[in-house]
Amino acid sequence: TGKFFVGGNWKCNGTTESIKKLVDELNSVMLEEGVEVVVSPPYLYISQVLGSLSNRIEVAAQNSWVGKGGAFTGEISAEQLADAGVKWVIQGHSERRHVIGETDAMIGKKSAYALSQGLGVIACVGEKLEDREANRTTDVVFEQLQAYADAVGSDWSNIVVAYEPVWAIGTGKVASPQQAQEVHAAIRQWLKEKVSDDVSSKTRIIYGGSVNGANSAELATQEDIDGFLVGGASLKGAEFGVICNAV
Ligand code: 13P
Repeated sequence: TGKFFVGGNWKCNGTTESIKKLVDELNSVMLEEGVEVVVSPPYLYISQVLGSLSNRIEVAAQNSWVGKGGAFTGEISAEQLADAGVKWVIQGHSERRHVIGETDAMIGKKSAYALSQGLGVIACVGEKLEDREANRTTDVVFEQLQAYADAVGSDWSNIVVAYEPVWAIGTGKVASPQQAQEVHAAIRQWLKEKVSDDVSSKTRIIYGGSVNGANSAELATQEDIDGFLVGGASLKGAEFGVICNAV
């Protein structure tokens, strides 16, 4: 499935000063050869990060507009991100779905447009606690995957799927390696049945939700865990470095 992929989602955190410190820490991490790393600062700090990163780390945006730029106050378009040197964009994060109210259809559209502009897409999926308790985990995850597939079609070569159970995000309640592996395997099987064998075997499926320096190594041993999407622990450079080298 290619290189182990680790993303640091900084969410709406940081100041010029704290981000300078974080980038300095990231620059001093010795990254293993076999890992691909991206960090995702708030839009406002993307130029600062791109201008000060010296380690081989790429930048992801946390969102992008559904289509070409124009009269869309407050939005940032995928072609603007590409122009600024951004290589990836996170789509369908649970906070955008459940706090901001983005729909499956919007997320699919944003993903397809970002791919058309040459960006890689980190396509997030994940169930809420109530879904898991009602045994609806894979129903929810498959529905979210179908919306991506409907919009992007059969070329998933620039997509990384991020499984982030909502109950594990920012809660300190990490999914157990077995819980995560079970859903990752189900996602891989879904890709095989609904997209193609090739996409199923090549697409990286990464886990997010309370990943830290202490739990990442065991999660990384699971067969279908191909990396991580890290929130809180990505704001600490040294700990994020440990997670990047967990494989
Ligand atoms: P935490 O690592 O803070 O739980 O956040 C996970 C996440 O939402 C990454 O996108």
